[in-house]
Amino acid sequence: MKTSPLFRPTEFIHGADYNPEQWAKFPGIWDTDMRLLNEANLNSVSLGIFSWAELEPEEGIYRFEWMDEIIDRLEANGQKFFLATPSGAKPNWMALKYPEIRRVGEDERRRLQGLRHNHCLTSPIYREKVREMNTLLAKRYGHRRHLLAWHISNEYGGNCYCDLCKADFRLWLKERYQTLEGLNDAWWSRFWSHTYTDWAQIDRIDEGIHAMLVDWRRFMTAQVATFIRNEAAPLREISPQVPTTINMMGGYDQYDYNALAKEIDFISWDSYPVWHGQAGEVTPHWHNGMWTTFYHDQFRSMKPDEPMLLIETTPSQVNWAGASPLKRPGMHRTACLLAVSRGSEGVCYFQFRSSQGSSEKYHGTVVSHDGRNDTRVFRDVQDLGTLFQKIQPVIGSLPKSQVAVLHDFQNRWAIHHMQFVVNQAKNYVGTCVDHYDPFWARGIGMDVPDQSVDFNRYRIVVAPMLHMLLPGTAERLIAYVENGGILVTTYMTGYVNESDLCFLGGFPGPLRELLGVRIEETDALPPFRKVFVSGVAGNSLKLTGQWEARDVCEILHAESAEVLATYASEFYAGTPVITRKVTGKGVAYHIGARMDASFLDTFTSTILSEAGIAPLLGGTLPVGVTAQTRIDPEGKTWMFLMNFNETDATVSLGDGKWQDVEANSPLNENVDLPAFSTRIFFRER
Ligand code: GLA
Ligand code: ZN
Repeated sequence: MKTSPLFRPTEFIHGADYNPEQWAKFPGIWDTDMRLLNEANLNSVSLGIFSWAELEPEEGIYRFEWMDEIIDRLEANGQKFFLATPSGAKPNWMALKYPEIRRVGEDERRRLQGLRHNHCLTSPIYREKVREMNTLLAKRYGHRRHLLAWHISNEYGGNCYCDLCKADFRLWLKERYQTLEGLNDAWWSRFWSHTYTDWAQIDRIDEGIHAMLVDWRRFMTAQVATFIRNEAAPLREISPQVPTTINMMGGYDQYDYNALAKEIDFISWDSYPVWHGQAGEVTPHWHNGMWTTFYHDQFRSMKPDEPMLLIETTPSQVNWAGASPLKRPGMHRTACLLAVSRGSEGVCYFQFRSSQGSSEKYHGTVVSHDGRNDTRVFRDVQDLGTLFQKIQPVIGSLPKSQVAVLHDFQNRWAIHHMQFVVNQAKNYVGTCVDHYDPFWARGIGMDVPDQSVDFNRYRIVVAPMLHMLLPGTAERLIAYVENGGILVTTYMTGYVNESDLCFLGGFPGPLRELLGVRIEETDALPPFRKVFVSGVAGNSLKLTGQWEARDVCEILHAESAEVLATYASEFYAGTPVITRKVTGKGVAYHIGARMDASFLDTFTSTILSEAGIAPLLGGTLPVGVTAQTRIDPEGKTWMFLMNFNETDATVSLGDGKWQDVEANSPLNENVDLPAFSTRIFFRER
């Protein structure tokens, strides 16, 4: 059996997208770049991401000499490299000669050549062209000493609605449903008289058929998957020792990234939080830190036992946001160490040198138009490289998580498309993050997997708004609880099956027995309205207090669950909202309304004690501070203590026997954490 090559860097990767072909006419720049790469303490680059027109300027006419020379120079200079396949942007000649490779929009109009990431995912011609180019690249460079990995394409994204794609969609549907009858049943298409009587009638995406919308997303994911397989085939065949990756995008939801992750050897992603961009009273600075941690966890959880890589981030600002503030002193280091703390084996930037022209000329870079090596940004990059040397032993350790907060793409699509009683406040991902927050605030490591994960990996599984239950999920959740797991569900759980068909006989469908509740009605609250909730006297979790619910309140019957809290206002005052049911060795909680942060905090603290998980530093950290850990195979813990506030903080380390990695001096119990700073500690087993 063929095994896939592992991504096991031996030093922290500190790299940048490097586009030397843009500078071929500038004598001396390549020499300067080699010097500046070293001075910046960078040890690698990503090459060739958008180089197709320079590699194949005319059909079948290849120019690899410049790439040969750059790779020679990089290797001589001690740099390693990721080599990209150039499919993210096709050359003009190809787009004009083969119109079928150009994407068609939902308006059925073929797009003109321009921009990037705009090829048809199905086109046999494009797939063939990509395969030819990748074969040449693999033959020429697949055995270079310093090749770290294949960077397949760039940020796959978008949809194509051309006839080829639609024909493949029909094939995909035939495979899934076998018959039109099966499809009509699954799609509930008799509604509005949309019954399909011929496969050919499926020639557009009908916004009225929500199951079709979800299937279209699944299909597009499958198209990208086979596209990647086609790209990777020659790479794997010619250079089987070189791992592959695709750079995924934080926040992107058009494809099921958990499914695409199976096509590659290791996970990498592009993170562009606009630090300080929304900071103000409504969104404090630290929210960005928490959200970014959530994304790191989401991507790492796609291969939870493997290292990952932050393969793109800006060394300073971006040029596409409404406003992109400069990173405040300390922020660059903290943002990069956040990635490391969550399992990234390094940090790479977009891009190394500022382009002189075109749309990204004002995007942040390591070397700006002034060409200098004594700028603030350059120094920040240098310093990180120096620090990477110091924390070298962290490599090979991984975050270990006992808690999972589920985020599931198929569920996300179903929620996105559904027309429900709270359309203005569905907020699926935000809700996942709300549940993640109180764990983050206690330095509890988390995974963010989808519903296909083996739940038995975790002591606690929080499944916010798990509206769509895929086949087998309910059974696996039941087994998980029976075996001792702690499950937390919320409103909007267990409403539909994989075809977006509502479970009959009452929500939460197949979880009704496990949760011990039945939902009779769901109230939707306009933004100015709140409902009070209070703990029931003598409840077994000792939850006491009064809290507020907003947006959505389920009216529940506790059929076999204990009621921990009831509504305290509205006509449904006195009815259950928070419930608990023991099954086998485990317990399942249901939170029937969108509860405020104070409730989630109290509740989280309680279930952590129930699970026997102690907060890393004994309790809740100061607001906006988190601690994240990686544990190496010998049991040594590396802790990254990060302050995402614009004010200083003091943190008590308790008696944890921590040592400061950088200072190597004995520690007081309380350590200072200036605004936006990170300190790194370690502790023996
Ligand atoms: C993405 C792309 C890069 C560049 C950056 C700019 O991550 O992959 O090519 O456009 O955005 O932020
Ligand atoms: Zn197409």
